[in-house]
Amino acid sequence: MPASPPPADARPTPTILGVGAAVPDQLITNADLEARLDTSDEWIVRRTGIRERRHLRETETLAQIAAAACSDAILDAGCNAAGVDHVIIATITPDRLTPGLAPAVAARVGAQRAGVVDINAACCGFLYGLDQAAALIESGRAEQVLVCGAEALSRITDHDDRATAVLFGDGAGAVLVGPGAPAGRGIGSFVFGYDDTLADTLYAERETPLLRMAGQQVYRHAVHRMTEAAQEVLARNRVGVEQVDYLVAHQANARIVTAVADALGVAHEKVSFNVEWTANTSAASIPLALAAAERDGHLKPGALVGMVAFGAGFVWAAGLASWKDR
Ligand code: ACO
Repeated sequence: MPASPPPADARPTPTILGVGAAVPDQLITNADLEARLDTSDEWIVRRTGIRERRHLRETETLAQIAAAACSDAILDAGCNAAGVDHVIIATITPDRLTPGLAPAVAARVGAQRAGVVDINAACCGFLYGLDQAAALIESGRAEQVLVCGAEALSRITDHDDRATAVLFGDGAGAVLVGPGAPAGRGIGSFVFGYDDTLADTLYAERETPLLRMAGQQVYRHAVHRMTEAAQEVLARNRVGVEQVDYLVAHQANARIVTAVADALGVAHEKVSFNVEWTANTSAASIPLALAAAERDGHLKPGALVGMVAFGAGFVWAAGLASWKDR
């Protein structure tokens, strides 16, 4: 018989205990792209806000980078890998078609008794993982869950197509989720949505695994859906936009992030523009931005952070969490 969940007033309240990030050391600047494509630093910065990105070398694996981010998150939380119950990896670019990334990452970090699973929800994958981790903690089925967004988008990028080659980067970010937030705080309710009628505007096929995108259409829908999802998640959690201390929108394009922040009425100094240094890293973009925000002093314990994402599917997602609130 499965254990029945604890009564509502006795439920553990999930929170983010620690955060970690890792990127490959191979740096690709706009000048590097200028040297081999019909593009310019001026165009890339003006249209996307991106200045640099990092790409894995052929000899490196994504599991190495993801494990580094996960180890960092466990250390930051002051916890031990042996206590991790589940490793959830959000990715669309695992090192192999199968097995997924999670077993290799769990083994590398020393999470010996963990459940291991990969999830694919494109750029929303990390938020799906965070929601599932929160549910596992809340129900009492787990004590510690690692959630990692990890991508090697350079491996599914057409490096000869200037319209997409400049946009993508590699990296991994992770959080450790556990109980301990004060009642009514911690990781709140999430909002999810999808529209598969527009699947052909952003995709990669199995036969030719390269990202193809109708940029302007994706742009328009990304702004609209992320704004709506963020508004809905605020309403669902009964939080006013003025209560949000920091906003992390999926880091695809600084203009998209600006448009969403403006539509929501969030001042730009409370918004992540980490895309400048990472480019678009799909499922890794939000946890990488969270780690950078904390490093730069934007996220203090108890701060309320809004997260929203949009990607291939189309899929969109939004969530709220108070930062390291225990
Ligand atoms: N350098 C120079 N010129 C370029 C480049 C480049 N790298 N790329 C395109 N151009 C040219 C085009 O050829 C076009 O030229 P033309 O006017 O002579 O035809 C011109 O620039 C404008 O092209 P657009 O595609 O209209 O440029 P836009 O301003 O829309 O920017 C971009 C393109 C950056 C892709 C934008 O549409 C975008 O960010 N879209 C959304 C991306 C996104 O959100 N993805 C989300 C999820 S994807 C994922 O996360 C895996």
